[in-house]
Amino acid sequence: MSSLKLASLLYLLSFILLFKVAFCELPLHHRCSSPEKFTTNDPFDKNLQQLAGNLSNETPTNAGFSLGSRGQGPYEVYGLALCRVNVSYADCRSCVANASKEILNRCPNSKGATIWYEKCLFKYGNENFFGHLDLHGVAFCSPNNLSQSIISFNETKVNMWSQLADETLVSQNLYAVGSSEVNGSDKLYGFTQCTRDISSSNCEVCLRFVLTKLSEYCDGKDGGRISVVSCSVRYEMYEFLNA
Ligand SMILES: *[C@@H]1O[C@H](CO)[C@@H](O)[C@H](O)[C@H]1NC(C)=O
Ligand SMILES: *[C@@H]1O[C@H](CO)[C@@H](O)[C@H](O)[C@H]1NC(C)=O
Ligand SMILES: *[C@@H]1O[C@H](CO)[C@@H](O)[C@H](O)[C@H]1NC(C)=O
Ligand SMILES: *[C@@H]1O[C@H](CO)[C@@H](O)[C@H](O)[C@H]1NC(C)=O
Ligand SMILES: *[C@@H]1O[C@H](CO)[C@@H](O)[C@H](O)[C@H]1NC(C)=O
Ligand SMILES: *[C@@H]1O[C@H](CO)[C@@H](O)[C@H](O)[C@H]1NC(C)=O
Repeated sequence: MSSLKLASLLYLLSFILLFKVAFCELPLHHRCSSPEKFTTNDPFDKNLQQLAGNLSNETPTNAGFSLGSRGQGPYEVYGLALCRVNVSYADCRSCVANASKEILNRCPNSKGATIWYEKCLFKYGNENFFGHLDLHGVAFCSPNNLSQSIISFNETKVNMWSQLADETLVSQNLYAVGSSEVNGSDKLYGFTQCTRDISSSNCEVCLRFVLTKLSEYCDGKDGGRISVVSCSVRYEMYEFLNA
């Protein structure tokens, strides 16, 4: 796809870019996407509660991804949950359950919102968004400058991303993990992942978009990540997936 077309996607972006992250179990970011409000205990609220409970149960058993809707007409709620690659069954379930509670504190009575954690993301809305690219998200760079030659690091990183992106597009669950040696001694670890409601071609568009942004934002840094709703990528010089 042309860089012109990629540029035209930029307007969708409302990143916050941070260089330090407080991790633990705190959300990384949230977005209240609908100005419309529901009334506490109205059918929309009840449908949302039920859907959130169902998604937190279903996501771990469905290889880290689930979506669904509840209710009808103006009270219909659509929701989606994704757990990051390599997150345990128990953590996936607890992350989605936490996310669906916390989003209500952060976007009170909003008819649409998304919340991002280290281990999962949860999105809901009153419109059917399944299959649509959503490039809103969050980016973080490691504060540490590369100690290696940037030229050899860049080369390794570019090769790793193209391999992971290729693997992701043909994988059953739209993700890939990998590692590459950098300059003989060190190793670079990374993953790419798309939500499974989008097509493989939309996954490709999403990955190209975030990888372009990542190399722009985190150039010269030894780690970085971007998570938009439709896809996520991260690289580090240590094995972060089992941390
Ligand atoms: C969804 O959750 C409700 C209770 O909140 C439960 O009665 C129902 O069986 C669940 N549905 C599925 C498909 O898990
Ligand atoms: C969910 O929240 C509980 C209570 O705050 C916390 O102990 C737990 O670690 C959280 N789970 C995840 C996966 O973030
Ligand atoms: C990284 O490099 C920049 C400028 O090249 C410098 O300002 C910054 O302090 C460095 N960061 C660290 C953690 O050394
Ligand atoms: C490997 O790293 C060393 C020091 O970190 C540097 O002097 C050397 O140029 C690097 N080699 C390549 C091929 O980048
Ligand atoms: C590394 O890659 C980034 C983006 O791809 C580029 O802007 C930068 O100039 C590259 N650095 C070197 C030393 O090649
Ligand atoms: C992550 O999961 C992939 C397969 O899904 C596996 O090959 C890899 O070893 C796992 N990595 C870690 C660090 O657990």
